[in-house]
Amino acid sequence: MNFEKLCQTARDLVAPGKGILAADESSGTIQKRFDSISVPSTADNRRDYRELLFTTPGVEEAISGVILYDETLRQESSSGKRLAAVLADRNIIPGIKVDAGAKPLAGCPGESVTEGLDGLADRLAEYVNLGARFAKWRAVIDISDTLPSAHCIEVNAHALARYAALCQEYDLVPIVEPEVLMDGDNGIERCEEVTTDVLHATYHQLHLQGVKLEGTLLKPNMVLPAKQSGETATPEEVAEASLRAYYRAVPAAVPGIVFLSGGQSPEEATLNLNAMNALGSHPWELSFSYGRALQQPVLQAWLGEADNSLMAQEAFHTVAMANHQARYGTYEPALAVA
Ligand code: 13P
Repeated sequence: MNFEKLCQTARDLVAPGKGILAADESSGTIQKRFDSISVPSTADNRRDYRELLFTTPGVEEAISGVILYDETLRQESSSGKRLAAVLADRNIIPGIKVDAGAKPLAGCPGESVTEGLDGLADRLAEYVNLGARFAKWRAVIDISDTLPSAHCIEVNAHALARYAALCQEYDLVPIVEPEVLMDGDNGIERCEEVTTDVLHATYHQLHLQGVKLEGTLLKPNMVLPAKQSGETATPEEVAEASLRAYYRAVPAAVPGIVFLSGGQSPEEATLNLNAMNALGSHPWELSFSYGRALQQPVLQAWLGEADNSLMAQEAFHTVAMANHQARYGTYEPALAVA
């Protein structure tokens, strides 16, 4: 393990003003995204869409890294250059999703555990050769009056720590993603309680398994009222509840917290990040690793048509720059994200 290299990569991923694009949708998820704009999910369409994102002029000011799916890390651009090299040439760090998805957890109805540890070491070695410098593993925590169970929290935290320790042996920065879902009908207080519990369990396991926190990043949910709760929260309320949870549970040695968007609209995700950064300086960089909140406006502009590529790139540039400003707490809603 090259500790200095790990720490440097982690810091580069959360460099001032910058954040991560999550473009690591699995085959099933990208199919859903393409279905929403009536575009067939073929390998060529996936390549064209992702190449459009990765070659958007000027976006490197706001984007430090991109999380790729296995297929994309191996794919070539239309001009025959590997897509990972297209990114690296622009000083954007290629990363790779390495989990095999959330599967039903035995004995815990309605809950899941993320799989993918078997054979992971061999895959990591290959991904490093293909140019990846960081990785992602997502645990999914369902929330209700009675969920999550302590068992579900523990097995997911344990798997996250096993993944993270292994990544560091290959000089890949592990992004540790325990996502408490925003589906359901719970209010913001319950989300804060569960998020705090999940983060505590996760850092306990990372500690037990010897993970060097300076060479990791955390990718959590923001603390929000669930979609069906009927409750609303202002960006300031989201920022206060979220920060309370992280201050209580995330060690200061972690260089950065890079949020998932989790079904928030692009504007909500940007305003909430902005509110957290506007509350002053924190022990960690507070940044983004959005999938949907960065890509929704791009998909809507692109619609699978080559003629729309420039418009789609403009949409990506606009939403990326809005989040660039939110990194400093200076985002002006007047510059509206689509
Ligand atoms: P969303 O921002 O769409 O939640 O996706 C981020 C991600 O990578 C989930 O694993």
